[in-house]
Amino acid sequence: MLKVENLVAGYGKVQVLHGISLEVEKGRLVTLIGSNGAGKTTTLRALSGMIKPQSGSIKLGGVEIAGQPSYRITRRGLAHSPENRRVFPTLPVRDNLLLGAFPRLTGARPKGDVKRDLDRMFQMFPRLAERRDQLAGTLSGGEQQMLAMARALMLDPEVLLLDEPSMGLAPRLVEDVFATVARLKEAKVTMLLVEQFAAAALAVADTAYVLENGVVSVSGPAEKLRDDPAVQAAYLGAAH
Ligand SMILES: Nc1ncnc2c1ncn2[C@@H]1O[C@H](COP(=O)(O)OP(=O)(O)OP(=O)(O)O)[C@@H](O)[C@H]1O
Ligand SMILES: [Mg+2]
Repeated sequence: MLKVENLVAGYGKVQVLHGISLEVEKGRLVTLIGSNGAGKTTTLRALSGMIKPQSGSIKLGGVEIAGQPSYRITRRGLAHSPENRRVFPTLPVRDNLLLGAFPRLTGARPKGDVKRDLDRMFQMFPRLAERRDQLAGTLSGGEQQMLAMARALMLDPEVLLLDEPSMGLAPRLVEDVFATVARLKEAKVTMLLVEQFAAAALAVADTAYVLENGVVSVSGPAEKLRDDPAVQAAYLGAAH
């Protein structure tokens, strides 16, 4: 569904990704782990067109999207729940969700039933349902995270990119986030998950890639990486 080959990207003259390749098959959950500054967020930004790749290929459903503007990529069904949430603070919860569905109205993909999907999101995230008329900027951190995920899901995405959905959350809410990711996996949502909690990410994912200084150092079935001594030493130590 998403196939990345030799992706090179960065900021201005600074090259961060030095030719990474990865694949997310339909209905699969793939996780991208790595230390702070390894280039995980940069990877997701390059995939969704927030930054322009310098070279390499990104295919979404067989169509080349590398270099396209982000609004076009979103229309094709690539949803990005960004680092630090970035909800629209002055709009109510409900409007934030409807904006997530907006690219569906452009005719690039079947529109589907937006109202039904809104109801689904309110079922999946009851806290958002209770707060549907509340301004997003006044939600708690955990609630804003739920909103960012729900807004991305409102695209009815072909592929969902999740950048550290557990960031800054209390342990209880981190569990909720992973439970939600597991539910989405059961519902066959195709996902690329970036997470600081490598052990939890490897436990829920099908496939994993380890990013080190802008290159993929190890990849394979998530359970295999969990048992890899080098991965354990670097990412699954006592701190994680
Ligand atoms: N807007 C920017 N301008 C210049 N350099 C940037 C910018 N954003 C990120 N970088 C640099 O790119 C490198 C990779 O950053 P990135 O945010 O992709 O890391 P990450 O793997 O997501 O890390 P973390 O786990 O801390 O979120 C870092 O060295 C960072 O300083
Ligand atoms: Mg990051």
